Amino acid sequence: MSSVDSQLRVLSGMRPTGRLHLGHLHGVIKNWTTLQNEYECFFFIADWHALTTHYDDPLIIENNVWDMVVDWLAAGVNPSSATLFIQSRVPEHAELHLLLSMMTPLGWLERVPSYKDMQENLQDKDLSTYGFLGYPLLQSADILIYRAGNVPVGADQVAHVELTREVARRFNHLYGREPDFEENAQAAIKKMGKKAASLYRNLRKSYLETGDHDALERAQALLKEQQNVSLGDRERLFGYLEGGGKMILAEPQSLLTRAPKMPGLDGRKMSKSYDNIISLREENDEISQKVKTMPTDPARVRLSDPGDPSKCPVWEFHQVYSDEKTCEWVQEGCRSAGIGCLECKKPVIDAIVNEVEPIRIKAEQLVDNMSMVKSVISEGSEKARDAARETMSDVRQAMGLNYR
Ligand code: TRP
Ligand code: SF4
Repeated sequence: MSSVDSQLRVLSGMRPTGRLHLGHLHGVIKNWTTLQNEYECFFFIADWHALTTHYDDPLIIENNVWDMVVDWLAAGVNPSSATLFIQSRVPEHAELHLLLSMMTPLGWLERVPSYKDMQENLQDKDLSTYGFLGYPLLQSADILIYRAGNVPVGADQVAHVELTREVARRFNHLYGREPDFEENAQAAIKKMGKKAASLYRNLRKSYLETGDHDALERAQALLKEQQNVSLGDRERLFGYLEGGGKMILAEPQSLLTRAPKMPGLDGRKMSKSYDNIISLREENDEISQKVKTMPTDPARVRLSDPGDPSKCPVWEFHQVYSDEKTCEWVQEGCRSAGIGCLECKKPVIDAIVNEVEPIRIKAEQLVDNMSMVKSVISEGSEKARDAARETMSDVRQAMGLNYR
C-alpha cells in the first residue's frame, strides 16, 4: 500500500461502553457516516482497550459489544461501505503492540496526559497496571497496522494520535533502512523514465539542501502520478525524498470532529455516568417525558417571568435541532415571557423523536436478527485481518523476524 492510499484510509475505534446515546450520534456516528462515503473506512470495537480499565468485570464487555454494533448499524454505519470489526478478532494488533513496545521509551507513555488524569479520576480502581500504561501504544498499533492516514477523534484523543506519529517515525528511523536502500532507490528512480527521474532528483536535492517544502510537495505529487513504479518502489521513493529509509509505517493525522456540542438533559456533557442521556433506542413517550422534565432557566418560576435562553439547556438543544426561525421564536418568546417552557420544548421533542424513532425501529429489527449482525462482524474482521497481515509481514521483515 502506498502513501497515496494511506491518505484515503480512515480508522477509528470505540470502547464498548454500552448502548449509544445522542451524544455519540452527534459527536461520532454522524461523522463516520459521512466519512464512509469519502474514504476507505475501518471502524472497530476496542474491546481490549475496555479491558485495560474493566479487567475485573469482563462479562459487561461482551454484552456491550453487541449492543454497540447494533446501534452502529441502526444509526447508519454501512457495512458495505465501511469495514466493521472487533479488535480482539484481529490478533495481529497484539503482535504489533508487542513489537512497538520494544522500541517505545517509557517516558513517552508516562507523559500522555490521559494516563495520570484517568488514574486520578478512577480512584476506586487500581490502574497502575502494565496494560493501562500501554493503552495509547495499543491504540498506536490499531492505527499503524492499517497504515491509516486519518483518524477521526475527539479532542481528548489527539495526544494519542500524536504519540502514534512519533512511534511511526521512530520505527521507520530504526527499521526503515534496508541494507541496500540507496541502490534500490536509485534503481527505482530509473524506472520513472528520464524526464521524471531528473525532475525527482532535482526536487529531492532542493528539499534536502534548503528545506524547500514546496519542492517536497511537488516531488510527492510527481510520485503519485507514476504508473510504472511498483508499490514497494513508490514507498521507497517517498522515504528517499526525506533522506531516510523506506517508510514502513505511515504517520496518521487526527481528523478533529467538529460536532455541535450535544449537551445532556441537565446541561452537562451527555454521559451515562451523569444519568442525563437519551439513548438511541428510547421510546417516544420516554423522550417526551425526559425533555418535559428538563430543567430550564431557574428565573422562569411563573409563566409571566421572562427568561434567558443562554441559561437554559433546552436552548442548546434548539441550537442542535431547530432552524433559524424557531431559534428566533425561542429567543423572543423566552425573553418576553411570550411562550411557556413546555411550549418551547415541543419542537425539541418532535425533532428528537423524528431522529430516534427510525433508529430504534431498525435496532429492534437487528436484535431479532443477531446472526446477521454477527456475520457482518465476522466478514469485517476477516477483511481487516487481511490488511493487518500485509503490514505485519513488512514489520516482521524489517525487524529481522521473517526467518522460516
Ligand atoms: N481510545 C479511544 C477512545 O477511548 C478508542 C480507540 C482505541 C481508538 N483505538 C483507537 C480511537 C484507534 C481511534 C483509533 O475513544
Ligand atoms: Fe428555556 Fe425555552 Fe423556557 Fe426559555 S422558554 S427558559 S429557552 S425552555
